[in-house]
Amino acid sequence: MTNRVTKAVLPVAGFGTRFLPATKSVPKEILPLVDRPLVQYAIDEARAAGIKEFIFVTSRGKSALEDYFDSAPELEQALLDGKKHHLIELLKQTNMGSGAVAYIRQQERRGLGHAVWCARRLIGDEPFAVILPDDVIDADTPCLQQMVEAYAETGGNMVAAMEVEHSRVSSYGILDVEDATAASMKVRGMVEKPQPEDAPSDMAVIGRYILSPQVLTNLDSMDTGAGGEIQLTDAIAAEIGRSNNVYGYRFKGRRFDCGSKSGYLQATVAFGMAREDLREEFEEFLRGYLQVDVPKPAMRAV
Ligand code: G1P
Repeated sequence: MTNRVTKAVLPVAGFGTRFLPATKSVPKEILPLVDRPLVQYAIDEARAAGIKEFIFVTSRGKSALEDYFDSAPELEQALLDGKKHHLIELLKQTNMGSGAVAYIRQQERRGLGHAVWCARRLIGDEPFAVILPDDVIDADTPCLQQMVEAYAETGGNMVAAMEVEHSRVSSYGILDVEDATAASMKVRGMVEKPQPEDAPSDMAVIGRYILSPQVLTNLDSMDTGAGGEIQLTDAIAAEIGRSNNVYGYRFKGRRFDCGSKSGYLQATVAFGMAREDLREEFEEFLRGYLQVDVPKPAMRAV
């Protein structure tokens, strides 16, 4: 069995209810941060980590995602005719190449574990990455690349981890680790969305995983867990007892929860400010806007 990680699963079958009505017709993963869809950030990060094959677990209503990664001959011709070569260059990042991308439908929404399990035949008997595009991570070395490097030392199974506020633990998979000061923290327990009083720590799983194919085998017979769903966390936790080789990786970087409106807005500001072509004007606006005496639009409840 090879130890190189070249395949990534991207579960994108959710309704994106927190972004309705926008997500009635636009998949959440296509919502842009500045001018790039959320999913493009995930793909760039995966490519930096050496991923060559991308497996999207989709559902009805996600065809915009498939179009996004397809070639667009009319658009490219129009740009060519208009001599807009820089835009043609820009479109190249959306090009997947034949055979590099696969779409699998999750026919029933039965949880993250089930979504990943749907991709099992395309993964086969090798380690693979899972990327949740909602979690956007800004880092000097892309998060998954950091993990691939750490995984070369540890092997086994690895989840990205960071500390969250104690009151927020019920939104995450939470780890019980041996030594919270290590970068690769040996995990001795993990639980999906515990109540704060039951949480073993405040160390949360963030949406990047490197998993052994055994986790897929565990999912074959996984019962429903938290929220009545088949949980990826539970299938990974089963590996602690079975082979004791699960690690939480404390990545360097800043994570934005783009599955929430507030996190998405924060990411928009951060990525907007990071853009050379926008920073000056945007910063001037933000500074002025945040001054208390500037008139603001009335607050609107929805
Ligand atoms: C999923 C996982 C959870 C993890 C989180 C990270 O939860 O089930 O363990 O902590 O992603 O974003 P979800 O946000 O899909 O409810």
